[in-house]
Amino acid sequence: MSQFNTISVLGLGYIGLPTATVFAQHGLNVIGVDVNKHAVDTINQGKIHIVEPDLDIAVHQCVENGKLRATLKPETADAFLIAVPTPFKGDDYEPDLSYIEAASNAIAPVLKKGDLVILESTSPVGATEQMAEWLAQARPDLTFPQQTGEDSDIRIAHCPERVLPGHVMRELIENDRIIGGMTQKCSAQAVALYKNFVKGDCIVTNSRTAEMCKLTENSFRDVNIAFANELSIICDRLDINVWELISLANRHPRVNILQPGCGVGGHCIAVDPWFIVNKTPDLAKLIHTARLVNDGKPEWVISQVNNAVVEILQQNPTRSVSDLKIACLGLAFKPDIDDLRESPAVKITEKLAEKYQGQVIAVEPNVEVLPIKLANKDIQLGKLENTLEIADVIVLLVDHKEFKVSNNISENIKVIDTKGIL
Ligand SMILES: NC(=O)c1ccc[n+]([C@@H]2O[C@H](COP(=O)([O-])OP(=O)(O)OC[C@H]3O[C@@H](n4cnc5c(N)ncnc54)[C@H](O)[C@@H]3O)[C@@H](O)[C@H]2O)c1
Repeated sequence: MSQFNTISVLGLGYIGLPTATVFAQHGLNVIGVDVNKHAVDTINQGKIHIVEPDLDIAVHQCVENGKLRATLKPETADAFLIAVPTPFKGDDYEPDLSYIEAASNAIAPVLKKGDLVILESTSPVGATEQMAEWLAQARPDLTFPQQTGEDSDIRIAHCPERVLPGHVMRELIENDRIIGGMTQKCSAQAVALYKNFVKGDCIVTNSRTAEMCKLTENSFRDVNIAFANELSIICDRLDINVWELISLANRHPRVNILQPGCGVGGHCIAVDPWFIVNKTPDLAKLIHTARLVNDGKPEWVISQVNNAVVEILQQNPTRSVSDLKIACLGLAFKPDIDDLRESPAVKITEKLAEKYQGQVIAVEPNVEVLPIKLANKDIQLGKLENTLEIADVIVLLVDHKEFKVSNNISENIKVIDTKGIL
């Protein structure tokens, strides 16, 4: 029998909603809290406002059997999990902890002795201690781990999330979890909570190491993708097929190069390394350079499109730039999902639409309408088959499964394939 009867999850997005739902599926009473009324209303109708396989049925069942409900305002619970956004502030990549601060201030009035507060949001080193400080300021009548250690009234831990969008419902249960308590007892309580459903190992460390662990995982991927992206640009200059090169090099028993692409996006790999660079700018040189290499790749892709346009016009002197159609295949930040946040494919498509006004068609099988900022740039959302018939330049930006089927692409069409699948 779990020591937790009711838990509350703050932030019902891509991480919070699946997490809340899995707890509810495992018998806990779950109160989801979000500041977005549309999300709260949708969930209370047993529906979902995001795309994640198997989540809709699970939410429907949990709402119907009364184990999950959503609200705008926190209520008392035995444990609180905070899964709110952690973006940057402004353009200098300083982490924005204001969402964590707002969530802390929202739960502070309903905290009671014995409660556990877990920060799940990806956070810079020290954020969990900062959250504990905000809670302590709001509730001077309770004690916190930074004040009284193991005797504290409130337990606090950082437990980062490392699920893969598209596989969240399975990975939440199967993945190992890093549990970074501010004290041993904080960790022990967090392990007890996650063991309600986690089949992977729950590995205990302190909160700072847990924060750095999540950032390290994504920085490792970013640095290795930057290596592949740099190779792709070098190979283009040297007239070498980078895909063949990487597959040959990977025949070495101790070499495993990742695949290049049009850049690096999403809410994690393109963001988290900056949390390390921002904290230790004089030391994090390789991590910083990798960010610059990956962020520079979209500009390189755009220059390839511009070169293709020049070639078409040279080969067809009767045509003019304004007749040409440019097809951008894929907008999401990675294959087979609908998440367009921080997507380099979106950035490339937008910039092309600014230069080639009214001539850009985006094909994104995972969305039904384009976000307003893209529609405002006169970008059309096209179907794959129709678009391939009218395009003069095709830029493959994301390796969605729909694009992998062999398509009949006419030889006259210029193809820039950033994923090597066409
Ligand atoms: N999406 C991923 O694949 C992924 C993976 C690992 C870690 N993370 C991390 O998890 C955290 C959440 O990411 P996400 O993708 O779920 O974000 P999201 O934008 O999908 O969801 C966040 C939710 O929090 C809500 N919110 C904002 N402020 C709030 C507040 N004060 N109180 C209650 N709700 C509030 C928003 O309305 C939104 O619904 C981030 O730190 C992210 O870096 C995300």
